[in-house]
Amino acid sequence: MHHPEPSPAFSTDCAPAPLVTPLTRRFGLRLPVVQGPMAGGATTPALVAAVSNAGALGFLAGAALAPEKIASEVAAIRALTDKPFGANLFVLERAEPDDATVRRALAAIDPLAARFDLAPGQPLAAYAPDFRAQLDRLVELRVPVVSFTFGLLAKEDVARLKAAGSYVIGTATHVAEGLAWRDAGADAIVAQGAEAGGHRGTFIGEAAHALVGTVALVPQLVDATGLPVLAAGGVMDGRGIVAALALGAQGVQMGTAFLGSAESAIPADWKARLRAASDTATSVTRAITGRHARGIRNPLMARLDAQAGAAAPYPVQNALTQPLRQSAARANDGDWLSLWSGQGAPLGRAREEGLGAARIVAALERESRAALEALAAFARPQA
Ligand SMILES: Cc1cc2nc3c(=O)[nH]c(=O)nc-3n(C[C@H](O)[C@H](O)[C@H](O)COP(=O)(O)O)c2cc1C
Repeated sequence: MHHPEPSPAFSTDCAPAPLVTPLTRRFGLRLPVVQGPMAGGATTPALVAAVSNAGALGFLAGAALAPEKIASEVAAIRALTDKPFGANLFVLERAEPDDATVRRALAAIDPLAARFDLAPGQPLAAYAPDFRAQLDRLVELRVPVVSFTFGLLAKEDVARLKAAGSYVIGTATHVAEGLAWRDAGADAIVAQGAEAGGHRGTFIGEAAHALVGTVALVPQLVDATGLPVLAAGGVMDGRGIVAALALGAQGVQMGTAFLGSAESAIPADWKARLRAASDTATSVTRAITGRHARGIRNPLMARLDAQAGAAAPYPVQNALTQPLRQSAARANDGDWLSLWSGQGAPLGRAREEGLGAARIVAALERESRAALEALAAFARPQA
């Protein structure tokens, strides 16, 4: 992609365009970018540390990890960077589905899993790591920034994290959720627009009603909560970053833009399909994991959507479809993976394939400055 350099005339009569917001100042970032936590293999310690070392904020996805694994990943990140970084969890209750729910879900999943020679699925002892144990470990680890999605923390838990020195971010997909996080004591809000890849964070009301676009959502959350807001969903380059700042955000959270990076450990076929995606390639489905999530359409989504009524709630459906998706990952077969991705995926093609995260961050900084200069040019009186 061509990045216009600032014109010399502009550079000499103005200081370099600042990319400073209260949030960047607080964490010493070079630009107002948070790398979105992405459960499912993308946010390796190498990715998190590379992003933080490059001057943005790297973020570990801890939701799928046992407490000991969260601790070892955090230790691995700390060995690679002395810069601030974050860790993220899903707020979940323990799932205790009845047998009929599990059997109905498996009746739809088993025929698909048979293509990988998997035996029929069975009810499990546990469907997700224990959230309370994950949270307790996170408090002990004193991670600089922590964020949560899928639910709301109790005030006491937010207070515990803050007392441990962590900056607490809650994810909201609409205003009522932002207010709930503010009332629980959160320091900041991730505003998750409908464009975003991966799971919807919605925890109040119908997920199908909570598909508010980023441009509409960000200023409403800024106005309603008075808290720092990070815009998430559809931001892929410097233009998106500057647009989010114009809407009143103090930064952006970008997932899809880092999904194809060299350090992201997702299967190669997922990366290939991200690069091949069009703007209309994604849909929101509940059928793969039991929770609404945006991803690139493929046979897995189509086949499970066709029997959506059979899907168990999250995290049960997620755990039941996992052996199939893990087999697909081993076979590098994107037809049967959950291909989570945002609507902005095609914008990633402007970058070299498999670019390292540090180079993505550097490009974002360059592009943001160029976008700011372009805006300033609009405001300058014509000579
Ligand atoms: C593959 C994938 C996995 C994700 N996993 C998580 C997660 O574990 N926790 C979370 O809070 N957000 C998760 N997200 C959301 C991202 O952190 C981020 O908010 C989102 O990707 C922003 O939208 P974008 O994809 O358009 O950049 C995930 C997104 C993707 C694409």
